[in-house]
Amino acid sequence: MAKSHKLILSLLSQLFLICHLSIADLTPDFYDDICSQALPTIQTLVEAAVADEPRIGASLVRLHFHDCFVNGCDGSVLLDDTPTMIGEKTAKPNNNSIRGFDVIDSIKSNLNDVCQGNVVSCADILAVAAHDSIVALGGSSYGVLLGRRDATSASLDAANSNIPAPNFDLSQLLSNFDSHGLSMQDLVVLSGAHTLGFARCTIFRNRIYNESTIDPDYAASLESVCPISGDDDVLASLDDTPASVDTDYYQGLIQSRGLLDSDQQLYQGDGSDTDSLVQYYSDNPANFWSDFGAAMINLGNLNPLTGDGGEVRENCRVVNQN
Ligand code: HEM
Ligand SMILES: *[C@@H]1O[C@H](CO)[C@@H](O)[C@H](O)[C@H]1NC(C)=O
Ligand SMILES: *[C@@H]1O[C@H](CO)[C@@H](O)[C@H](O)[C@H]1NC(C)=O
Repeated sequence: MAKSHKLILSLLSQLFLICHLSIADLTPDFYDDICSQALPTIQTLVEAAVADEPRIGASLVRLHFHDCFVNGCDGSVLLDDTPTMIGEKTAKPNNNSIRGFDVIDSIKSNLNDVCQGNVVSCADILAVAAHDSIVALGGSSYGVLLGRRDATSASLDAANSNIPAPNFDLSQLLSNFDSHGLSMQDLVVLSGAHTLGFARCTIFRNRIYNESTIDPDYAASLESVCPISGDDDVLASLDDTPASVDTDYYQGLIQSRGLLDSDQQLYQGDGSDTDSLVQYYSDNPANFWSDFGAAMINLGNLNPLTGDGGEVRENCRVVNQN
């Protein structure tokens, strides 16, 4: 074969390798042959947990988000601290805040039985549990992509620096999302996850006592449960209907009733692009439901470990011993 042909061939095969490695080759049917009962098992357990306590659905959605924003969707958020590794659980955005670990543990041990072995990754469990929570609370289904593997380490520092803070302004939120390859639309749509769940007094205190961008009646009603000091852990819902996936969150923003600064930043009444998107989703629930699913897929595609990368953890809290 001529030298130039060989060169072209080797360039082509390198190109193929590069493309192959860089594509997040997750697939919807990853577990169909490996363990056909995996997804129905997760769904049954999530439905039971949500029926028992609706908030757990919110907590499971947030867990997937906090996993994916820290070195990709690799189950790192689930790792407990060890003598040699401080994980992500005590990072500022997570400490005394993220929850749902017991549900994930229970799903994992059930899957190890049902699948007759350790084949479903913790990162995939988080992605499916988030989806099933959204559906259980009235959102639309979307095609969850699967085949992620689990990280063998976690990073406190990465959790502290990569998860957006509730006092971020719009440009900080946009650049944080951009650093994860997510767009302004992803920011507005994914923030719609705050249609579910709660935040603590310590998080929204400054907003209700110090800010002018909040509806005064709303601030007063929050002040009655969240004193100027103390009661840090008292909860308030992120929208009027914390157990249903709807567009009340966006309607609240238009009424200056966003609970977090970062929520109200998306709608400032100045006719900006994010204002328009908030208005659009508030007027079009069906579009919110479908765009939310698409944005959750974007979230779930962040830097997964695939193929031979990482491992499938036997226990989501600890790295495999062998
Ligand atoms: C845009 C930037 C975001 C910021 C600054 C932010 C911040 C927060 C904060 C501070 C809380 C309350 C924590 C506490 O009180 O302990 C919270 C709750 C929550 N967040 Fe976000 N978040 C953001 C985006 C997202 C995204 C993208 C999702 C999911 C796709 C999400 C899902 C949730 C859920 C469901 C809750 C309620 C959790 C529960 O009740 O257990 N958030 N968020
Ligand atoms: C996490 O919360 C615990 C319990 O409130 C507290 O003792 C600890 O100092 C916190 N850790 C960090 C790193 O903030
Ligand atoms: C209001 O803002 C001031 C100045 O930043 C701050 O010292 C104070 O703690 C804030 N009040 C509340 C209740 O957060």
